[in-house]
Amino acid sequence: MNPFDYAYPVRVHFGAGTLEKSLEAELPQYGKNVLLAYGGGSIKRTGVYDKLKNVLRVAGKEVFDFGGIMSNPTYAKVQEGAKLAKEHGIDFILAVGGGSVIDCCKVVSVQAKTNKDIWTLEYEEKGKPAAGIPFGAIVTASGTGAEMNNGAVITNEERGQKSPLWGSFADFAILDVETMLTLPKKQVISGAFDTLSHAMETYLGTPRTSNLSDEMGEAVMRSVIRNLRRVVKDEKDVEARSELAWASAMAENGILKLGKTTDFQAHMIEHQLGAFTNCNHGAGLAVIHPALYRHLAKAAPKQFARLATEVFGVEPAGRSEEELALAMPEALTAFIKEIGMPMTLTELGITDDNILRKTADTCILTSGCAKKLTRDEVYEILQECK
Ligand code: NZQ
Ligand code: ZN
Repeated sequence: MNPFDYAYPVRVHFGAGTLEKSLEAELPQYGKNVLLAYGGGSIKRTGVYDKLKNVLRVAGKEVFDFGGIMSNPTYAKVQEGAKLAKEHGIDFILAVGGGSVIDCCKVVSVQAKTNKDIWTLEYEEKGKPAAGIPFGAIVTASGTGAEMNNGAVITNEERGQKSPLWGSFADFAILDVETMLTLPKKQVISGAFDTLSHAMETYLGTPRTSNLSDEMGEAVMRSVIRNLRRVVKDEKDVEARSELAWASAMAENGILKLGKTTDFQAHMIEHQLGAFTNCNHGAGLAVIHPALYRHLAKAAPKQFARLATEVFGVEPAGRSEEELALAMPEALTAFIKEIGMPMTLTELGITDDNILRKTADTCILTSGCAKKLTRDEVYEILQECK
């Protein structure tokens, strides 16, 4: 294992039906002016908005709405939120949604505390933002685990990049599966696949010696696969949804990454594809993963073989390590098909070669994966995804 320091700042309130009680308990420690941040309106349709407004009213808060945060949130939207927060002297941000709303608020929190442009600070000056406005996250769509870390993924339309930005950690996260049950089945599956992707990308990082983080990762992946099968049958299965919500948090709270340099190459490719096409994150990953792993399996055969046998149930008897490694992308493909996710870029409506070339030329190439890819190889992988 690599050396590490570990501390964890996010208080987690977990449990079906705990939303209002958990928020009531948290609110007294924050100031009066609250920025209530949400997406395109699902929280109004589902009644979550009214419930939260009531809890905030009883707690004596003055609430300012910041709605319309889009999937794949833009840097312009971050600036809009920061401006609102400055104008109204916001003391506390309540982010209510999936990864998009939570990510946007992480960066609003720090941008609102400085006149410096956060993108310039982080990418050009290689600086890190100072402390931001405190914020809490109410997760209405699980999968990204965005509530558990301080990395946001933001689309900078001017620069043509969807890239990571550091923002604030949430002070607390509320995971009440009852607020997630209205999520459309397609998004439930897509979110859970995102969790599986996080765990796989962590597992395939280095070092690839057997270690506790990897064994815990195997347990998380097996759990996600088992519960994904349950939600394919019934997306309102509260027990399965609860397991998936906690697996999502576990995959991104840093525990599985301890002592490892993670890979996340599939994510880096998907993010750029998302920058140019606005495709759904989990769906993009489902298309990219198998082709990417066909390219990587031979470079880390031991770890791919172990993933095949310990997680995807590939029968080891009579097969060499290399055969088992190569069986992993095939087992993953079969699973993606089984859960009804898209398998090609064409299914996502992405057919323009120029977009694939731009994605290959601008995505971040990671060093933690089985081998460092060239840009031409990324393009080849994307061609194979068509
Ligand atoms: O916008 P509204 O109207 O709220 O609708 C949303 C949105 O259309 C809807 N939704 C959310 N909760 C709902 C609901 N609909 C009905 N009932 C509910 N309870 O779901 C749609 C998708 O929401 P979104 O937040 O965009 O999805 P997701 O949670 O998958 O987040 C995707 C974003 O997270 C980033 C992705 O790149 C993408 O931008 N990621 C963030 C990560 C992180 N910070 O750690 C890690 C991930 O790898 C990922 O990159
Ligand atoms: Zn992801």
